[in-house]
Amino acid sequence: MNTIGVVTSGGDAPGMNAAIRGIVRIACSKNYRMLGFIKGWDGLLTNSFVQLNSRSVSGILHQGGTILRTSRCPEFLQLEAREKAAETLAINGVDGLIVIGGNGSMQGALELSKLTDTQIVGIPASIDNDIFGTTETIGFDTAVNTATDAIDKIRDTASSLERMFLIEVMGRTRGFLALTVGITAGAEIILIPEVKFGNEDLFEYIKEFRERGKRSAIIVAAEGVGDNQRLSCQIEESVGAEVRLSVLGYTQRGGSPSARSRYLATLFAEEAVETISEQKKSRVVVLQNGEIKSIGLEESCKTEKPIDLRVLKLARVLAT
Ligand code: F6P
Repeated sequence: MNTIGVVTSGGDAPGMNAAIRGIVRIACSKNYRMLGFIKGWDGLLTNSFVQLNSRSVSGILHQGGTILRTSRCPEFLQLEAREKAAETLAINGVDGLIVIGGNGSMQGALELSKLTDTQIVGIPASIDNDIFGTTETIGFDTAVNTATDAIDKIRDTASSLERMFLIEVMGRTRGFLALTVGITAGAEIILIPEVKFGNEDLFEYIKEFRERGKRSAIIVAAEGVGDNQRLSCQIEESVGAEVRLSVLGYTQRGGSPSARSRYLATLFAEEAVETISEQKKSRVVVLQNGEIKSIGLEESCKTEKPIDLRVLKLARVLAT
């Protein structure tokens, strides 16, 4: 009987459990033995795993987080650690390893694939949506919904008190979450790291729309933009409006996955098991033009995902 391992790595994302459930049930139906490595790459360094079957993944489809737990694992940047992980795969006769995680985890998966005969297949799961080759990652839609819902609530108090709010959303160094949330929450301004802005231009723009009669406003800023606390104080001083900062933080990473995140996770799970059955090595499953398929892990890791700046222009038009 062939063996597939599964691991969740890095920051958790809503829908990781849906992916684990899909992988385990699909793999078991094809008579694979399933191992779940515990706590991210740590599980491969310490040979810590559980055997999984269809019953082990009951009742988790709607749960946020990951039942396998996860970790940031800086040791994995060291060759010796990755060699240890390759040894763990060999000792346990793991034919294929499915790595569910974000950007850093895909890099780790690529490096590990260079040291082992085990087929490594990545499943993109991150609220940052920053993995090249896929339109969407597992968890992104849920985070967009969570942030939009929070901003809708903040808008009530913003307009009642005629205040401006600078709302910081996650995304690490990229602006995919901020850009999408900016549109879905109807933000007057969206700030993302990919587009540098001058403070003076920003203040002028805010003054202009206040002169046009907008008394309250929502600015959605990606965390990667810089010091948003400082920026909110600077806006307050320059524009003469009351500005509050609201950092949405880790609420964006938790909660029950949206229907869309669960669906994507399940389709990715099927493609990942299929990719292993077809004995393809070093792949990552992706959503491209509505189609689920796999592409080379190396291509995905080596290329920066482009951001669609037309959306930023659209936001400006909508904010008039
Ligand atoms: O990558 C997901 C993410 O939530 C980023 O948006 C954020 O910058 C980072 O993880 C936070 O990492 P940690 O959980 O290690 O604080």
